[in-house]
Parts: sequence; C-alpha cells; structure tokens
Amino acid sequence: MTEPLFLRACRREPTPRPPVWLMRQAGRYMPQYRAIRERADFLTVVTDPALATEVTLQPVEHIGVDAAILFCDILVVPWAMGMALRFDEGVGPLFEQPLRAEADIAALRDPDLAGDLAYVFDAIRLTRRALDPAVPLIGFAGAPWTLASYMVEGRGSKDWRKAKRLLVERPDLAHGLLDRLADLVGAFLVAQVEAGAQAVQLFDSWATALGPEDYRTFGLPYLARAARIARTAGAPVIVFAPGAEHALEDLARDTAADVIGIHWRLDPPEARRRLVDASVALQGNLEPAWLYAAPAEIARRTRSMVDAFGRQAYIANLGHGVLRDTPVHHVRAFVEAVKSLG
Ligand code: CP3
Repeated sequence: MTEPLFLRACRREPTPRPPVWLMRQAGRYMPQYRAIRERADFLTVVTDPALATEVTLQPVEHIGVDAAILFCDILVVPWAMGMALRFDEGVGPLFEQPLRAEADIAALRDPDLAGDLAYVFDAIRLTRRALDPAVPLIGFAGAPWTLASYMVEGRGSKDWRKAKRLLVERPDLAHGLLDRLADLVGAFLVAQVEAGAQAVQLFDSWATALGPEDYRTFGLPYLARAARIARTAGAPVIVFAPGAEHALEDLARDTAADVIGIHWRLDPPEARRRLVDASVALQGNLEPAWLYAAPAEIARRTRSMVDAFGRQAYIANLGHGVLRDTPVHHVRAFVEAVKSLG
C-alpha cells in the first residue's frame, strides 16, 4: 500500500494533490458531535476511550478528511499534574485552583503518563483499530507556554495579566514550570506515537500573548525542546504557534519540525519565502470565517489558497480551528475543493 497523502506531504514527498484536514474538525458544528454531548459532558467524552474514538471518527465518516485527529484536549496534561479541571458550558474548560503562589507550583505532581493518561493511549489504540488504515491518526499536545499560562490564568484570558505578571515578577518560577512541562509534553507525544499516533501536533495557541523578545525567552525554547523530544519517536511533528509569525524562521529551525502550521494572519507566499531554506512542509491557512461563505466562494478561495502555497509539501487546513456555527456542508465544500484537485 502506498503511504497516505497526509504522511507523504508531512515528509515533503510528492503528492498528486494536497491532503486536507481541519483543526477542531470534531466538534460542535457537527450534529453527530452535539448528539453525543447531549448524553455526556465534555470531560466524559475526553476520558472515555470508546466515546473519544467515536467522536474522532465522525469527521472522517461525515466530512471525508484525509487525517483524523484524536479527540482530547491540551489541558489533560496539567490535569494529570493534579490541577482540578472543570468544564462549564458556555465558558469552556477551567482550573478550579489556578497556580497563584510558589507553593502551588511546587505541589504539582510528576504524573505517571502510562497510568494517569491511560485513557488517551487507550483511545489512540481503539481509534487506530476502528479507523480505515488509509487514514492517518494525529496525536497532539499543548506547548509549554500555552499550558503554563492556562495553569496560571485558570481559564481563557484576554490580557494574560496573571501569567505575564509571573514572567515579570518571578521568572525563576516561570522557567522552572516551563522546564517541567517541556519534558513532560515531549514524553507525552512520544507515548502517543508508541500507542499508534502517526503524526503529532504541538499547539502553542497562546504564543500570541507574547512579544518577540518574551516569546524567545519563555515560549520558543520550551516548544523547541518538546518538539525535539517528540521527534525521537519517528513520526512527523507539526508545530502551530499562532502569533509567533515574528519568529517563523527560528520556529522552523529550533523545533526541527516537519510541518509548520500557518495562521490565517500570514500570507502563504510570505510563509513560503521565509521558510524556503527550512525544508519544512506547510499547513494552513484559510480564515475559518470564510467557511460562512457560499460553497462556490469557499471552493474559489480554497483553490487560490492551494495555488498560493503550491501543491507540494503542503497540507490544506484552516488557519485556526473551525468555528462552532459553521454549516456542515460548507466544511464539506472546503474538503471537496481540495480533493477535486487530484
Ligand atoms: O482538533 C480537533 O478536532 C481535536 C480536538 C481538540 C480539542 N481541543 C477539542 C475541544 C484539540 C486539538 C484541542 C486543542 C485545544 N484545547 C487548544 C489549542 C487549539 C486552539 O484552538 O488554539 C486549546 C487552547 C484548548 C483549550 C480549550 N478546550 C478551550 C479554550 C476550549 C473552549 C473553547 C471553545 O471552543 O468552547 C476547549 C473545549 C474544547 N476542546 C471543545 C472541543 C471540541 C469544545 C467542547 C464542547 O463544548 O463540546
């Protein structure tokens, strides 16, 4: 059997057309997902391998994407370190006792991955058994800065002032936390590959909170360490750090990633130009809001996106997660527009 398109594109091998998947492809825009969520809350779906598997498969079956991404969440890592996690409808996930003092950080456990996160590896094994062998399974984790700032803020934030205050007032504590997270996240991704994930993506979603100098101090080095550990497992590593476009070249070099995810704020030709020496594949970057457009317009924009990136060493995707009120048939129009290039 020839290798799936997605894995060939990750390795920069020629493909007859680009592979396509979407960040947040399993989620609330799908009626099948909402039906499961009527019976089970978010954290139950995440921790029940049978439910997580079912949700992971939904966009493969109903949308026709070329890769599956495990249904899970980046916050399972701090949860396994002992931070109580709750999910409030309309708010999202939150930590009941965010990190506020030195003692809170000192009290974090060093989780036993195989035991504390067994439900993740079980879901990967179960999904891999249920999934069409031609469709690769992507694992993922949050990058150290994104996790650390979530752990300090406790929930989503607009100004990240608590997390930034820690960086300014106690950089020693921040570095200590980031250091632990880098090794843990790296090991978590290796274990996901060992369980059957065929590629892994690191999400540094809150890179956007930091300016260039701070990102180089508190973000990139830890993301790079986690990515390099992950790479030892032998599966392609995708790095997505929206807001860190200022450091695009360093991101590629320091992480040694196989694929760089491109946010919708960056023009594809600029991304290609700046990464021409990096030997990476690119992934992205349709602005998710354009999936509100009529299917013909989605198809037009999707084709011009592919033209702008070029068809090789390229994975078609959105430039961030799919929005929750996107019409399902518009998501399908996006996927079909890429597939029709084959
Ligand atoms: O992409 C996928 O389909 C795989 C599953 C996935 C989820 N979260 C499921 C989810 C992935 C890859 C994530 C990553 C994640 N989680 C990130 C990084 C990616 C990004 O979007 O920047 C972040 C920051 C989180 C933390 C998180 N989890 C937030 C902020 C929220 C609430 C936001 C929202 O849209 O309500 C979640 C909840 C969450 N994670 C949902 C899903 C499908 C919504 C759950 C629901 O309401 O049923």
